[in-house]
Amino acid sequence: MVYESIPRTVRILLLGEPGVGKTSLILSLVTEEFTEHVPPKAEEITIPADVTPEQVPTNIVDICTAEQSLEQVAEEIERAHVICIVFSVDRQETLSKIASYWLPFVRENCSDDYRKPVILVGNKIDLIDYSVIDNIWDIAEEYPEVDRCIECSAKSLINVSEMFYNAQKAVLHPISPIYSIEEQE
Ligand code: GTP
Repeated sequence: MVYESIPRTVRILLLGEPGVGKTSLILSLVTEEFTEHVPPKAEEITIPADVTPEQVPTNIVDICTAEQSLEQVAEEIERAHVICIVFSVDRQETLSKIASYWLPFVRENCSDDYRKPVILVGNKIDLIDYSVIDNIWDIAEEYPEVDRCIECSAKSLINVSEMFYNAQKAVLHPISPIYSIEEQE
């Protein structure tokens, strides 16, 4: 059985519907504070190895569908090692679009025998007082590339560094074989 080799850098891509907080999550991670007004798209950020828990240089890439073509987003999917699909826990439609649009779009842009790990990220938990994780199991079952799900808040700085750390871990310590045995035989 062949495994994708573990890369020496980790490239994390954030996808998801407009307004779910992708740029805010990146800026909250970097500045450790929440800014109300963020640019439509964060510049690509490189976090040096010595400040990451796994000691691996990490690039974080934002997208903005209003500014980028689908071809450009597809190219970023091809370049990424792990994809965080962000939704807003207070907007059900942003969660629905994960299964109806984003996960199929990611699959289309990965080779048939190699699926990149996906983290589902429910942002803005400061706005609600219940968990939406129960709504995600069906999606995770249908799409085994979903490595884990995490709820966070860019505003209250809850689980922000954990989200990026989990993305790193999904690449460096995959919990399931990236190739299925059936596909290789
Ligand atoms: P696009 O650039 O359109 O793709 O949006 P985006 O996903 O990058 O979202 P952005 O970071 O621009 O945030 C959208 C709005 O949500 C902004 O008004 C943010 O201040 C707000 N926001 C982001 N994260 C949070 C959060 O955790 N809690 C709350 N309450 N608001 C948030």
